[in-house]
Amino acid sequence: IIEQDLLGQHWVITAGPTMEAIDPVRYISNHSSGKMGYALAEAALKRGARVTLVSGQVQLVAPHGVELVSVKSADDMLSTCEQAMTKQADVFIGAAAVADFKMKTACDQKMKKQSDADEITLTLVKNPDIIATLAQQKRAKIMVGFAAETQHVIEYAKSKLERKGLDIIIANDVSRTDIGFNHDSNQVTVITKDTIWSPDKAAKSELAVQLVEAIVQYSISAKF
Ligand code: C5P
Repeated sequence: IIEQDLLGQHWVITAGPTMEAIDPVRYISNHSSGKMGYALAEAALKRGARVTLVSGQVQLVAPHGVELVSVKSADDMLSTCEQAMTKQADVFIGAAAVADFKMKTACDQKMKKQSDADEITLTLVKNPDIIATLAQQKRAKIMVGFAAETQHVIEYAKSKLERKGLDIIIANDVSRTDIGFNHDSNQVTVITKDTIWSPDKAAKSELAVQLVEAIVQYSISAKF
C-alpha cells in the first residue's frame, strides 16, 4: 500500500513527441516514446495526486485514473497546458520532446510533387518554449524540466534550469545508447539551483518513483 500523501495536489505532465503539420498528410516529429512521462504520471497518481497527462501521439496506454489529453502540435500542447492550469497546479513536469521548429505556414492542401524540382525549401519557425512560458506565467508551484544532452551534460542542464526559470532539471546523456530515448531504462542527474543527485540507472517505472519522491522532497523544503 502506497501512502496517499499527494491527495489534493494537481500534477500536470507532458509526454511524447509533438507533431508539426507540413500539409494535411505530412508532419515533422521525433522518436520520443513517451515512456518517462507516462511512468511519472503513474507514480504521482499512485501517491494520490490528480494527474493531467498532456500527451503527443505514443504507443502507450495511459494509467487508469490519469486525465489524458492527446495533442498534436507544440502550440496545442501549450494551450492545453495553460487550460489545465487555469488554477495554479502544484507540479508541472515537461517530459515531452517538443519539436524545436514548425512550418511557418502549413499548407492546407497536400503539397504537389513538382516534377521539375530536385529540391524544395520548407520555411520553419521556432516553436514556443512550452515549459519556459508556463514557468514565466507561474502556472505551477514547482516546474520540472528534462534536458537531453550529448556533452557537458551538467553544465548545459544548469544553464537550461536558469534560462527556463525551472526549479528542477532532470538531465540525461543521450549519447549513451544503452539508456534514455526509447529505452526502458534511464540514468539521470537531478539538478536544482544548489543540489545535484544521480540515482542509479534503473527501469523508467522505478526511476519515476524516485523522481516523484525527489520532487516532493524539494517541494516540502522549498520556500514560497
Ligand atoms: O531546450 P530543450 O529542448 O533541451 O529543453 C528540454 C526541456 O524543455 C524539456 O523539459 C522539454 O519538455 C521542454 N521544452 C518545452 N518546449 C520546447 C522545447 C523544450 O517545453 N519548445
